[in-house]
Amino acid sequence: MSSSTPVENLVEQDEEMLKRALLHPSSLLRAPQHLGMKVLDREAFTRRIPTVAVYIKDKRNIQRIRKAAGSVFLLDPLDRTVIDPKRLYGDEGKQTYIIPLLPSVNVDDESSMPADLAQLVKEGKVELVPKEGILTYADFGSEEILKSILPRDRYDGIHRGFTLTGHIAHLNIHGEFTNYKEVIAQVIMDKNPTVETVVSKIEDVGSHSEFRTFPMEILAGKSDTQVSLRSSGCHYEFDFAKVYWNSRLENEHDRIANLCAKGDAVCDVMAGVGPFAIPAARHNRALVWANDLNGDSYESMVRNVEKNRVSSLVYPFNTDGREFIRLSSKALLRDGGKTIAFDPNPPNAPRDPAINSKLKPIETYTIPKVFKRFIMNLPASAVEFLDAYIGLYAGLEPLFQDPSKSLATPGQEGKYPLPIIHVYTFNRHNLKDIDEAAKEICQVVSGYLDYPMRVERTDNLKDLYAQTMQAKTKENNSKKATISGGAENAPSAPGKVTSEEYFPEGGISVGYVRAVAPVKSMYCVSFRLPWEVAFRTPPKQLSEMEKKLEQMKSIWLKSDETAQWPGKLKQ
Ligand SMILES: C[S@@+](CC[C@H](N)C(=O)[O-])C[C@H]1O[C@@H](n2cnc3c(N)ncnc32)[C@H](O)[C@@H]1O
Repeated sequence: MSSSTPVENLVEQDEEMLKRALLHPSSLLRAPQHLGMKVLDREAFTRRIPTVAVYIKDKRNIQRIRKAAGSVFLLDPLDRTVIDPKRLYGDEGKQTYIIPLLPSVNVDDESSMPADLAQLVKEGKVELVPKEGILTYADFGSEEILKSILPRDRYDGIHRGFTLTGHIAHLNIHGEFTNYKEVIAQVIMDKNPTVETVVSKIEDVGSHSEFRTFPMEILAGKSDTQVSLRSSGCHYEFDFAKVYWNSRLENEHDRIANLCAKGDAVCDVMAGVGPFAIPAARHNRALVWANDLNGDSYESMVRNVEKNRVSSLVYPFNTDGREFIRLSSKALLRDGGKTIAFDPNPPNAPRDPAINSKLKPIETYTIPKVFKRFIMNLPASAVEFLDAYIGLYAGLEPLFQDPSKSLATPGQEGKYPLPIIHVYTFNRHNLKDIDEAAKEICQVVSGYLDYPMRVERTDNLKDLYAQTMQAKTKENNSKKATISGGAENAPSAPGKVTSEEYFPEGGISVGYVRAVAPVKSMYCVSFRLPWEVAFRTPPKQLSEMEKKLEQMKSIWLKSDETAQWPGKLKQ
């Protein structure tokens, strides 16, 4: 080796590494190995790199130099482009035209370089100088760093495997990786500028966690679990340690919210902090009765409803879901027909149209007597609440469309369709075996309704949603072209169903939402409440709690013309 190669200048780096560097030069640019590092030492990732620098005297020659020296450029091992001189040589790389070459180039030996490059040197167009480059912790990505620390053969992409909730990254760390949890958390925080806190589950959320929250430990960053985030075009604030939130459900929240139409009455039985209810009201003007048993979720939902300015459309409650199904349905039967007013203008906007050309008219909605749909997202146990629908409308048959008759049959017009129920559940089968999952789920649903349901269709809901959105955009575009003004405030026509929502009596649709674990997937089961179940007599006996709540009906609604939904009723 000639004394002019830069390699020998690097006293810190061992022989083995240098040999490897000459054979596989790009290995020089990888993060140094620190297998087993448990406390993050950022300095230890500083790497001194032997290179030869090409100083370019006139930038007009760059193309020629590229052609001449391309085969000995020092390439980034990840994307195979020339390593950025600014990264490698700091300020000098920023200020000078300089390109790093492989350390195998010997500036004193023409035979170690391409002939065209030697020619350029002779012509004085470039100067080759042995030069040390430096890469630091900041230059390596999280994957690169973690791969160099964690047991290599079991490295499983942990740097990507976190979910982001506002400023909090939530990691699931298993097995031997738990020994490295702090170092992993620190790297994730360093490499993701929006992450300010990294948390990990202490125990499995399991069925013992009634409110689907989990005990968490803070692994890195500030110990503040109060988050503020945007999802489905709405704003949410909540304490991540006290309530349920899953950013991965945004698509599903959007999908259901988009099934809701203007003036529809919707009952969100386990509403959390409002991610179905608020977008359904904000974007689609549904009237949503939203309930959660967790007092903290309820409090956050109330604040989120106010923040998103949908207080006249979303009515938060804090009681048990089973009772809520029956009680809210009864309250609606009694109070449907009243009107509510919604002001779509920002609170501070001038209300005088002479000053404010953007002033929108106050919207009014007539409260339907019957919910269009129920949403039950508590996958671990929501199916067990289905018996609450048995006999829900016993004795009220004349109000409803008879599913055995066509809508055109005299006497059917103006009647309500029975509600659609969306109930979430888990099943051991994944998307590949969705038919098996659907069969098992159907059996369970039939059991709780005490009525033989059958599988009508299965879907991958992500795909279905994407298709629906495409169709909607098309429809909106053609509407824009043909409609000028129109029935802005008209509730969706009773009985109008989209093809996705064609539910023949007793038919369930089973939709795959996402995998939550290797043998656990989340599904959404949708069906129209069967006639026989809705009107079965004798209806279910009222529980003591239900009776108690029944007596409180009078304070739920004032009986004047414009209903003032209480919104803040807390048991
Ligand atoms: C999986 S989370 C879903 C929350 C929200 N719908 C969402 O999509 O983010 C289930 C929610 O059910 C609530 N919950 C648990 N048991 C309940 C019950 N018996 N009645 C009503 N809500 C309940 C929990 O507090 C939790 O907020």
